Amino acid sequence: MNIVNLNDLSLEEINDLLDEALDFKNGKTVDYQNKKVIANLFFEPSTRTHYSFDMAAGNLGCRTQNFEANHSSLTKGESLYDTCKLFESIGCDALVIRHNEDDYYKQLEGLQIPILNAGDGKGNHPSQSLLDLMTIKEEFGHFEGLKIVIVGDIKHSRVAHSNYDIMQRLGMEVYTSGPLEYKEEGYHYIDFDEALEEMDIIMLLRVQHERHKGENDFSKEDYHLRYGLTLQRYQKLKDSAIIMHPAPVNRGVEISDELVESEKSRIFRQMHNGVFVRMAMIHKVLGHE
Ligand code: CP
Repeated sequence: MNIVNLNDLSLEEINDLLDEALDFKNGKTVDYQNKKVIANLFFEPSTRTHYSFDMAAGNLGCRTQNFEANHSSLTKGESLYDTCKLFESIGCDALVIRHNEDDYYKQLEGLQIPILNAGDGKGNHPSQSLLDLMTIKEEFGHFEGLKIVIVGDIKHSRVAHSNYDIMQRLGMEVYTSGPLEYKEEGYHYIDFDEALEEMDIIMLLRVQHERHKGENDFSKEDYHLRYGLTLQRYQKLKDSAIIMHPAPVNRGVEISDELVESEKSRIFRQMHNGVFVRMAMIHKVLGHE
C-alpha cells in the first residue's frame, strides 16, 4: 500500500496510525532485524522529513539508502519513474519520496513497491499532517470542535492543503489567514488579529518563495508586522492555546525569535513526534516484521 494523500485513508486508519505513533513514543518496539530497506529519495531539499524518516527506519531495525539527486543519473536525463524503478529493482522495500511536482506519485502507478509521500509540490504532506495531529491529540485529547488558524502562504503550502482537509474531516474548525495574495480559493479566511483570542491553535507557515513565479513578496519587517506572531499578538492568545509551525522557521518573520521556544510553542515537539509518526507509517506499509 501507499500513503500519498490522507484523503485516501479512512478516519479509522488515520486514528490507528496516530495511536500506533503514540505507542511507539511510549516504548513499543518493532524490529525488522536489518531485513528491510527503506530508500529515501529527496528530489527537493529537506532536513526534518528526510532525517526523521531515516531515524524512524533505523528505530524499526530497517536499513536505509539515502539518494542524492545532484550526484545521480537524473543529471544524465533519467526519469523519475526509472529512478524509482531502480530502487525497486535492487531490492528496496519502500520508497520515501519528496518531489517538487504536485501529484508526482501518479507517474509511479506502475511500481509494485510501497510509496510514502514526503511532500509533493504544493499538494500534500501526509507525514507532516500526521505529526501535527499527533501533537494536537497529545495536547487536547480530541479534535472535535477545536479551532485552528493556519497563517501565511496558504496557496503555495502543501502543509496547509493537507491539514485543511484532514482537520475538517476530524471535526476541527479550520480557518486560514495572512496576505490575501496567498489566500486559497474556497478556504475559510479570517483576519489574524480578530482570530487571536478565539483560537486553540495558531499554526504559522513560512512564505514559500521557491514556489512563487515572479509574484511580489513582502519585506521581512513588513510581513512580520502585518502577519507575524509578535509578542503583542502572543499576549492575546487563550491560556490554553498552542503555537505550531512545520518549520523551517524564519525567525523574526512569521514568528518573533523569542517566541519560537516560548511556553505555548510546540514547534520542537512536532519535530520529536515526527519520528514516531513516520515509524507508524513505515510499519503500516511494510505490513509485518
Ligand atoms: N516540515 C518540513 O517538511 O521540513 P523539511 O522541509 O525540512 O523536511
